[in-house]
Amino acid sequence: MTRPGDENYLHGHHASVLAAHGARTAENSAAYLLPHLAPGTSLLDVGFGPGSITADLAKVVAPAEVVGIEAAPDALAAAQALMEARGVDNVTLRTGSVYELPFEDGSFDVVHCHQVLQYLTDPPAALREMARVARRVVAAREVDYAVMHWYPPNPGMEDWLDSYRSAAR
Ligand SMILES: C[S@@+](CC[C@H](N)C(=O)[O-])C[C@H]1O[C@@H](n2cnc3c(N)ncnc32)[C@H](O)[C@@H]1O
Repeated sequence: MTRPGDENYLHGHHASVLAAHGARTAENSAAYLLPHLAPGTSLLDVGFGPGSITADLAKVVAPAEVVGIEAAPDALAAAQALMEARGVDNVTLRTGSVYELPFEDGSFDVVHCHQVLQYLTDPPAALREMARVARRVVAAREVDYAVMHWYPPNPGMEDWLDSYRSAAR
């Protein structure tokens, strides 16, 4: 059995993947969270990938510091470049795993992830660890491929979902 932390992130971090995910913004991917943020809110973003959502959140909570934790070093390098390009200077990016966050209990007002739990073998363990380091809010926006539906029926989409589930398994 795969142990937590052993999983391979399915999409990888090719430039094309980072570019597609890098189109995400706080408005289009974390709008539900914005009313809970204000200047001074401390925030941890787990699995930040290209970092575009992280950069937006950092602007909302500035001058508070945002910390990002990401399992993949190549994503960290890309996200660091994005912070510099956008002039975001209140973000600290680190490699690490959501299963073992290197912070004391209650270190952040808000702990956030976007499209991360769905790739893990033990999402509840990840959520427990996020809750441990959160003081106020744990925020996650995810996809559940097991219950995904659409209407009207679309054979192409059904083939895609079958392929995706096989590859993910
Ligand atoms: C689909 S990407 C989402 C990136 C970003 N949150 C976004 O929405 O643009 C998922 C990210 O989670 C990271 N990840 C996977 N397993 C992780 C773990 N155990 N701890 C921290 N990050 C992890 C992957 O490396 C990947 O960059």
